[in-house]
Amino acid sequence: MHKLRFTTAGESHGRTLCGTIEGIPSNMKLAADDINHDLARRQKGYGRGGRMKIESDSVQILSGLRWGATLGSPISLLIENKDWPNWERGMSIDALDTGAIDPVVRPRPGHADLAGALKYDQDDVRNILERSSARETAMRVALGAIAKKFLAEIGIKIYSYVIEIGPEKAYLEPFVTEASSDNFSDSSSDSFSDNLSDNLSDNFFEKFYENLFDRAEASELRCPDNDASERMKYEIDLAIKKGYSLGGVFEIAATGVPPGLGSHVQWDRRLNARLGKAIMSIQAIKGVEIGLGFEMARRPGSEVMDEIFHGPGGYYRETNNSGGIEGGISIGMPVVLRAAMKPIPTLRRPLKSVNIRTHEPMEAAYERSDVCAVPAAAVVGEAMTALTLADEVLIKFGGDSMAELKRNLEGYLNSL
Ligand SMILES: Cc1cc2nc3c(=O)[nH]c(=O)nc-3n(C[C@H](O)[C@H](O)[C@H](O)COP(=O)(O)O)c2cc1C
Repeated sequence: MHKLRFTTAGESHGRTLCGTIEGIPSNMKLAADDINHDLARRQKGYGRGGRMKIESDSVQILSGLRWGATLGSPISLLIENKDWPNWERGMSIDALDTGAIDPVVRPRPGHADLAGALKYDQDDVRNILERSSARETAMRVALGAIAKKFLAEIGIKIYSYVIEIGPEKAYLEPFVTEASSDNFSDSSSDSFSDNLSDNLSDNFFEKFYENLFDRAEASELRCPDNDASERMKYEIDLAIKKGYSLGGVFEIAATGVPPGLGSHVQWDRRLNARLGKAIMSIQAIKGVEIGLGFEMARRPGSEVMDEIFHGPGGYYRETNNSGGIEGGISIGMPVVLRAAMKPIPTLRRPLKSVNIRTHEPMEAAYERSDVCAVPAAAVVGEAMTALTLADEVLIKFGGDSMAELKRNLEGYLNSL
């Protein structure tokens, strides 16, 4: 049923991460730099561990392109792990290197370590943690960058920003007022994608999310609220000092999404369900809300439904509490979701664990680790949102070339 398929492979300290994506139509321009930009964004953030400082990821595109444009064939990617020379024997695929480094025998609570070791019959936890590590998300971000480029061609943009870290919350209310005022100048453009997004999304929302995103890009914590950002940094400094870790909440908004992605007719075709699965698949994500989410449950129905209006531009809504999805179908408003990330489970002051060979009580193992990675998780969230929406666009509009896809989309929009 999926029109866009992707997989990743690779261990955290293995030679490389690899990924393939199949279903991107032909004749889309793409370059490694389009992907490297997002790889760098994933590596940023106050509170990241030592690895981010020693490694700066860059991608090699191995197939699916010729002379800077997609062929419609599978695109395969490779990211080298720059730390590989230090792990060449410890993570070797060759049986001759067996035992080159000590086994990990103290599973970390909150990781796949113990459950994975039991399930895969391992007495060295490294055989689990190397793949369960969120290092894998570098490849998801690379594949997601391709999906984002594809979506941008038809006017769909994906934004992310951090709204909570530990006990601290961003205050976004002032940005609503900012977007409603005339502080922004309208840039008119006659390109297909610009016209499309102008037609599809209310200008207010476009400005609102663009502003939040621009502020997030300039912030060490991807947080649009500078005051909150300072308080969050203080909390992270405290966590570093005391040896614990922090989680938080990020928000994703996709603008320019046409009405009609996803479907009410079957459980696994509902757009909210697909996005929920995609976001929940990110390491450490423990909750997803669409639109008002849990807050919707607390308010009366008269306050939370988005009333329907009709004007010269067609149907419109003045609110977007549904997060752009009703009955599992996009309604033409921005798709908005929030994700909760638990605190990083590897702690410098380790928790209690048990040696899996002797069953003696011991402290959990410590591997170099982030203290807070919510900003990075937000960038991974953008990637998973983009991959899901790109698949839904292809399911709805099809097309083997970009020109065919755009024709199909334009025909549909004109028919609405
Ligand atoms: C971008 C990102 C970076 C992460 N960095 C670390 C890290 O440095 N150390 C760590 O212990 N966990 C880190 N995690 C979280 C773990 O990968 C995750 O909690 C673990 O694999 C267990 O999965 P679960 O929390 O989904 O149950 C990170 C997660 C993400 C999304």
